[in-house]
Amino acid sequence: MFINHLAIKNFRNYVEADIHFVEGLNLLIGNNGSGKTNLLEAIHYISYGKPIRIAKEADLVRFSANDFFLETGFNRQDLDHQIRIYYSPDQKRYQYDGVELSKKSALIGQLVVVPFSPEDADVIRGGAAQRRRAMDIILCSSNQQYLKNLKWYNKTLKQRNALLQDFHQGYHQEKELKQWDKILVDYGDYLMECRRKFTQDIKQEILQIVGELNFPYKHLDLIYDPSVQPSLFSKTLESNFEKDISYGWTTSGPHRDDLKFILNHKPVAKFASRGQQRLISLLFRLAEVELYFKQVYEYPVIIIDEAFIELDNQSVDLIVDKLLSYPQIILASADPEVINHRKVNRKFKIGQGSVEKIKI
Ligand SMILES: Nc1ncnc2c1ncn2[C@@H]1O[C@H](COP(=O)(O)OP(=O)(O)O)[C@@H](O)[C@H]1O
Ligand SMILES: [Mg+2]
Repeated sequence: MFINHLAIKNFRNYVEADIHFVEGLNLLIGNNGSGKTNLLEAIHYISYGKPIRIAKEADLVRFSANDFFLETGFNRQDLDHQIRIYYSPDQKRYQYDGVELSKKSALIGQLVVVPFSPEDADVIRGGAAQRRRAMDIILCSSNQQYLKNLKWYNKTLKQRNALLQDFHQGYHQEKELKQWDKILVDYGDYLMECRRKFTQDIKQEILQIVGELNFPYKHLDLIYDPSVQPSLFSKTLESNFEKDISYGWTTSGPHRDDLKFILNHKPVAKFASRGQQRLISLLFRLAEVELYFKQVYEYPVIIIDEAFIELDNQSVDLIVDKLLSYPQIILASADPEVINHRKVNRKFKIGQGSVEKIKI
């Protein structure tokens, strides 16, 4: 998969930009605050319908503008496609190959990008919610059924929690609550089964890459840690009934799952160095790329934003070489020498919301 073209209007610090990418390595060079991350965020938003950093959609509109527009042309499985997004506070429009879509989530899985960014280490250093988000993003981009189940699970959970709140206030609707339980279990069981399988698959990919690049992480383990035993979800909801009522929310289920990173039998978050944590988070990303390839026989577009901080030179070299084996990489950095001596296919200078193609 590769992106040919990106047009942006009033997005973050860009008034207007029109960029033509090529296959291979595209380098974006610019000082701090020039708009490199913003540009990658535009690509990320087209791909996932979400900014890279946690932000509201309204924050994506350029200060003092009212709306933004994004358009991209890309190639998937040898066919050209186009996505257009228009956003204003009272109108959102999504188009795929000229056809209007009723919801943003229909875009997920069309243009697939895998981002490597400074925030990647949050998957290890952050809370369980970040790990669930990481799993969900990957699963949703390759499995429409998962995306649907997740949406319905979250809706059902909201309903159940609202009823629990009512219960708390004296409106007893036990029968209705039990009906929601059954639906919650159906969606929840599916999510847990997918996450269990995902953990197994991604762990295998990580170990494969560890072997290939000869990293000293042979005793790296990844463990899916569900909040309830999948086969006992229904029973657990029943036995937690009183507790859920007194808390006013659902205390068990996949919305409380976690994923554990273990190195040499110790949790990576607690005992590994920051450099090791970052490297393991990059391995997780690389594994995501390989896993995607195994599912659809095509590599996603790689976007990289200053992802190599905290790493030693040798690790950076190994990771960069691996990344350069993929069909398209869009890499942003303040350091023009970031990928020292390797072949750059196209180079852009980013400066306060402007993009200029420069000679290599
Ligand atoms: N909605 C917005 N409108 C205009 N400028 C914005 C908006 N959001 C962020 N910015 C500006 O974008 C700049 C940061 O751009 P960024 O892409 O993060 O820089 P970098 O090149 O360092 O990655 C900041 O100067 C910030 O003020
Ligand atoms: Mg940046």
